[in-house]
Amino acid sequence: MLTADRTRTLAPYVFADIDGEIRAMQQKGQSVINLGISDPNQAPKREILESMLSSAKAIDSHRYPPLRGMAGLRRRVAEWYRQRFGVRLDPEREVLITPGSKEALIHLSLAVVDPGGLILAPDPGYPAYAMPHALFGMDQQWVPLIAEQDYLPVISQVRAGDLERAQLMYVNYPNNPTGAVADRRFWQDLVEQARRWDFVICSDLAYADIVYEGRATSILEVAEARSVAVESITFSKSFNMQGWRLSAMVGAPEIIDALYRVESQVNGGVYTPIQEAGMTALEVGPDPAVLESYRERRQILGQGLAELGLRFEWPKASVYFWAALPDRVGNAQEYAGRLLHEARVAVTPGTAFGPSGSHRIRVSFTSPLEQIVAALEQWQRVSSLTV
Ligand SMILES: Cc1ncc(COP(=O)(O)O)c(C=O)c1O
Repeated sequence: MLTADRTRTLAPYVFADIDGEIRAMQQKGQSVINLGISDPNQAPKREILESMLSSAKAIDSHRYPPLRGMAGLRRRVAEWYRQRFGVRLDPEREVLITPGSKEALIHLSLAVVDPGGLILAPDPGYPAYAMPHALFGMDQQWVPLIAEQDYLPVISQVRAGDLERAQLMYVNYPNNPTGAVADRRFWQDLVEQARRWDFVICSDLAYADIVYEGRATSILEVAEARSVAVESITFSKSFNMQGWRLSAMVGAPEIIDALYRVESQVNGGVYTPIQEAGMTALEVGPDPAVLESYRERRQILGQGLAELGLRFEWPKASVYFWAALPDRVGNAQEYAGRLLHEARVAVTPGTAFGPSGSHRIRVSFTSPLEQIVAALEQWQRVSSLTV
């Protein structure tokens, strides 16, 4: 065998798998509407594009970028935190620019978890949180998120022995896939637990700007978080810059420094014009029309899913419906498979997000409204898919 065991036990990346299946169908001349992946279809604001293009023309832009990120961008991120959450960050010690939050979230485990150490991951949760376990041999325990508890992690359900052993816990609000949001009280309690049991919290704030009810909060609004928590922000969803790979990790200086040690060994930094465009993005802010478009899609998709008989809580934030399937229509994999082949609509089977997704599907609304409407029509037409 020329390859490591882990490559044989590692399940294929769920979205690559769905993409592969869609491509195979397209090659046979079958068109598919993809409501599986979250890949915003709208463009970054004009100012962001212009900033990137003008920087790309400067000869110095093509050199290796500073590994911590450009000082100007780190200062902008700190300024964003001050304006948005009233949180003061030291751009030198508490902000690190990272090439995409998926990568940074996974690399963070190398910075704070020992080989075989325990990670607490939300179930359901964004698949990257389970990757340290799958890739680096770290141990993992799921922390359930349930509707009755507003999809907030129920720490009381984690065994004391696991809390004792845990070195890192991932949390994500506004949440993928449930659309839940967290308030400051929740962060306060969680920070207390982390300090009591001595583990790091990584808050993933990917959907800070995509909120329909309530507001996005930062764990760093809690003063004590500064010693145990870091937070990841990304330009992907707020600014439609997902292909550019730009994000930042902020918070506890000791943890940021440990992540920098890892990142500086494995990454070469982010291309300067992209960082320049990131500064512009934070300066001009997200496009309100994008949030409005999501609000409209959410309304129409939600109505359509309800007409199909699916049960769900309306997402307060993010770009997904986390819909429950009754037993009689089959499990998540079976249902998503039939939906793909019989209605030509791709969704993500809930199992991609953890064991609690065995009878759930995640339906994303990052595709244009016309495609969402067409997908609902195709879905309605296959009677065995209505529930
Ligand atoms: C919760 C969450 N975190 C992180 C990411 C990854 O974002 P990025 O493009 O910065 O890697 C996603 C992408 O869908 C996400 O849903």
